[in-house]
Amino acid sequence: MDGFELNKIVAAFLIALLAAMVFSMIGDSIVAPVKRLTKNVLIVPVSEDSSKSELTKEKELAPITPLLAKANVENGERVFKKCVQCHSLEKGKHGIGPSLWGVIGRVIAALGDYAYSSALKEKSAHQWDAETINQFIYKPRTFARGTKMTFIGIDSDQERADVIAYLQKSGN
Ligand code: HEC
Repeated sequence: MDGFELNKIVAAFLIALLAAMVFSMIGDSIVAPVKRLTKNVLIVPVSEDSSKSELTKEKELAPITPLLAKANVENGERVFKKCVQCHSLEKGKHGIGPSLWGVIGRVIAALGDYAYSSALKEKSAHQWDAETINQFIYKPRTFARGTKMTFIGIDSDQERADVIAYLQKSGN
């Protein structure tokens, strides 16, 4: 083997090496963007925690008791029309919701012949007084997350005071 022959072998080896490098670079440049794309596709952008911002927006509910003194029972009877599609004031008569006869002062979810949601049953260490009913009928699902009471709630403080006064007067 003379020097020229050896040079050819070395050159062939170097060319092969170079080709391998070039192919691998081309390969990377083809594969790499695909890889990056898959990664980006998998990242789901998560927006601001909406429940948190909703909580901070939530106004603190003022006690209803001061409003009860000058509540209008007759108007309360009118407001109660929002409840009658699901509730009766007759003792033991349940509709979609349980009878509200004697509900003020009653333990929460206490009627044995009505199938309450577990959301409400969990609260049975407490009683329905003006304040707890006020919170419940303001936003039922905020007071008891998972409640069966699909009522939207009453925004007006005065209307809630009136209907609570009506409940206090009737069926108690
Ligand atoms: C769309 C039907 C519906 C409407 C309208 C409705 N409720 Fe209810 N209510 C229910 C259901 C169902 C339950 C049982 C909730 C549970 O088990 O989670 C309930 C439960 C209650 C309870 C708890 C009773 C107990 O025995 O612990 C009170 C108090 C109550 N409602 C008051 C009202 C008042 C006051 C209104 C009107 C301002 C009203 N609800 C409107 C369906 C309704």
